[in-house]
Amino acid sequence: MLCGAGIVFSAVLQSCKTAFYAPNTISENKIVVSKKHFAQNKFVLIKNDQLQAPVYLTKINESEYSAISMLCTHKSCELKPAGINLVCPCHGSEFSNTGKVLSPPAEKDLKKYNITSDMENIYIQL
Ligand code: FES
Repeated sequence: MLCGAGIVFSAVLQSCKTAFYAPNTISENKIVVSKKHFAQNKFVLIKNDQLQAPVYLTKINESEYSAISMLCTHKSCELKPAGINLVCPCHGSEFSNTGKVLSPPAEKDLKKYNITSDMENIYIQL
């Protein structure tokens, strides 16, 4: 168990180096994020006063993105990026980058946001 905790802690530390908080604005109840940030990042984090927790925004393929809440569905700790997944520093739950539960104790998938995009931006519906 201690070894497992060490792996999770190591993954959290490693991911902290690469997490990028993308600048964003709000327009018409949507968070607007430029697609240019995906030239150098596989995912970006979105912080905003309108959000209870940051949003993890990732590019699935050339035309598809995923936006999920980083609020753990077990007891509401803020998740940390770990490789291509997210881990909970409180009790060790793990989620995929599209919000599916991979490891308990969490049982519910993460909140997903509806998103749209155009040539320049991604729009996350609040
Ligand atoms: Fe995330 Fe418990 S709060 S696993």
